[in-house]
Amino acid sequence: MIRKNGSIFCLETPHTTLVIKADTAEYLYYGKKLVSAGNFESCRGLPCKLLSQFGQDDYTEPSILLENADGGISTAFTFSKSKILKEKPQIPGLPSSYGKGKTLELKYVDEPTKVALYIYYTVFEDNDVIAVSSKLFNASEKELHIRRLASLQLDLLGDYSVVTFEGAFARERQKVSRTLNKGVFYIDSKNGASSHNRNPFVMAKGQDGVYAFNLVYSGNHKEIFEACESGKTRVLTGINDFMFRWMLAPGEQFDAPEAVMCFAPDEDGVSSQMHAFIGEHIVRGKWKKKERPVLVNNWEGTHFDFNEEKLLGIARAAKKAGVELFVLDDGWFGNRFDEHRALGDWYDNIEKTGGGLKHLADKIREIGLDFGIWVEPEMISEDSDLFRKHPEFAMRVPGREPTRLRWQLCLNLADEKVQNYVVRAISDVIARSGATYVKWDYNRTLTDPFGKGIPQGEYFHRYMLGYYRIVSRITEKFPDVLFEGCAGGGGRFDLGNLCYFQQYWTSDDTDARKRLKIQDGTSYGYPQATMGAHVSACPNYHTGDSNPLETRFNIACGGVLGYEMDMTKLSVEETEVITRQIEFYKEYRKVLQFGDFYRLGNAFGGNVAGFMSVSKDKGTAVAVVTVYEQIFGGPAPAVKFKGLDPSSVYEVKAREQANYKKAPCFTAGGGFLMQGNVFLSDIYEDTQRRENSGCLYSRMFLITKVKKEYS
Ligand code: DGJ
Repeated sequence: MIRKNGSIFCLETPHTTLVIKADTAEYLYYGKKLVSAGNFESCRGLPCKLLSQFGQDDYTEPSILLENADGGISTAFTFSKSKILKEKPQIPGLPSSYGKGKTLELKYVDEPTKVALYIYYTVFEDNDVIAVSSKLFNASEKELHIRRLASLQLDLLGDYSVVTFEGAFARERQKVSRTLNKGVFYIDSKNGASSHNRNPFVMAKGQDGVYAFNLVYSGNHKEIFEACESGKTRVLTGINDFMFRWMLAPGEQFDAPEAVMCFAPDEDGVSSQMHAFIGEHIVRGKWKKKERPVLVNNWEGTHFDFNEEKLLGIARAAKKAGVELFVLDDGWFGNRFDEHRALGDWYDNIEKTGGGLKHLADKIREIGLDFGIWVEPEMISEDSDLFRKHPEFAMRVPGREPTRLRWQLCLNLADEKVQNYVVRAISDVIARSGATYVKWDYNRTLTDPFGKGIPQGEYFHRYMLGYYRIVSRITEKFPDVLFEGCAGGGGRFDLGNLCYFQQYWTSDDTDARKRLKIQDGTSYGYPQATMGAHVSACPNYHTGDSNPLETRFNIACGGVLGYEMDMTKLSVEETEVITRQIEFYKEYRKVLQFGDFYRLGNAFGGNVAGFMSVSKDKGTAVAVVTVYEQIFGGPAPAVKFKGLDPSSVYEVKAREQANYKKAPCFTAGGGFLMQGNVFLSDIYEDTQRRENSGCLYSRMFLITKVKKEYS
């Protein structure tokens, strides 16, 4: 709801209030919901601005920086008008959130140049996340250049610590906390993607609670925190201004990507708001709330070395264990016998597929599994028919040796011809195979950013606009298909992609111990139904470590479950274990994929960690508790569950796991389960620990309400 009183706007979400004074471009309040409106004017102090510019006597990090036609960089945007819109405006060419809610439009004009800045705030009826976006319109008769246009500026009062999610390939989104001292701190990405290294989801933790921010964008981004001497902490998020210089011709507009923000008393509260928001206002289409199939993917099982017989063998074994979808990964097309060649040649390798994609897909379907396909549409191998025919499609600087990563180049998606080619080629793959699932991979970062006729400062963003044009066209064409994004694992896991792909491959690291942290870090900003999580073979392909099959399953239940192995190599006992796992998963799939998600313990720093998913009515929960290592003579590992009804009685039953002799069961009040210590007395009795070098101790519990009231 948005209420107006003169130039003051009160934006209310279910649990928060944001108060904006439009004429002075100020925030008067943002935080826990105010029960009464009050006189905001009287409590004004340090101005907390919603925009900041350069050229006057403000030397803080600006939200907007322009090069005017007169050669100067000074701007003086002043208030022009405001409007409350009933429909949320779309952002042309860019992904954004959707849904019922009101939008406040604020217009500021730089009088000397006539350039107009619009800032939009959308409040959804059912969620605390507020969507913010900015647009610049050049109403002058001369061109100007944008050097920075933040999507969102929020000024906070007081001291804050910053939480970011950083890492690398196979180590994505590790939680990092920093105390902000006075000065400027920022994280960014410059490699063309939201990146493995620094996710755009960030939090600022203060005395009153936690503010969280994210960007609906998959390219270069920057999140700035400035702890000012005045006692104010500025937060800016948007497109990275590094290598950014956008020419805005007269009569043109530039849309910055949408940013989102929320406030909650603690980190769990932030996650629950972000999860609900993504589930309701970011993910779209048929699969928005639909339970995701259990899949088998052949990548770690075969890599490029497969033929029809091998694939059908895996499919049969998978079907027997209860798998629902077979995903054919890299290596099915052109001359793709290894990483060195064939990207771009999206025609069937008859030899490896045993007669073409349709032929293979039909055989898989005859076995009783749906068919899914892997593609890497944004790339080209120099050793490919596509490159031989269209070398100009590749992104490279003329006259220079291109940087090769994984022996491949990127396509120049800023070029419309290339975009159209990709749409045609990939649509044809999906149509001719009848795939119901597509894994969209992206296995290198952008280097040599260059497109003929495109100014350097515009290239990265024009690539993203081209990318979004492609994915929106393809996903619209195939509305029934479940899309999973992938970028060498989780290198482009962001809200922009989740507007098109309902789920994302979280990481190439499938080692349970490593995955626990990667998924835990990811879960701060993203819900479990968006995280691809697979059980793979041991010793693990990346780390060389082993973990019991049951442990690997438990951890994979923190996301959308799949198996990534050659299932024909499983022993009879292992097949039985997996069959029971999948049976269990299907029974509790709804709560695991779409329940309210809570992190348990402390994955980054503690010895006990885990997660639990709770049904909306708090009647059923599945919890996974893990212990990193046995500390001899140390404290007995214990956990506090979360999200239950404190006044109800629950039965807590350990799932029967092949690596534990017993499956304890007890009843207790919800209050005790959440506030007391539930000791994991038998956690070290894992019977397979001696065979498993990486042994992470892990138990799964089914928690069901048995009595409404505790008496
Ligand atoms: C990287 C992905 O993350 C893997 O799962 C696999 O699809 C390979 N690419 C294939 O090249």
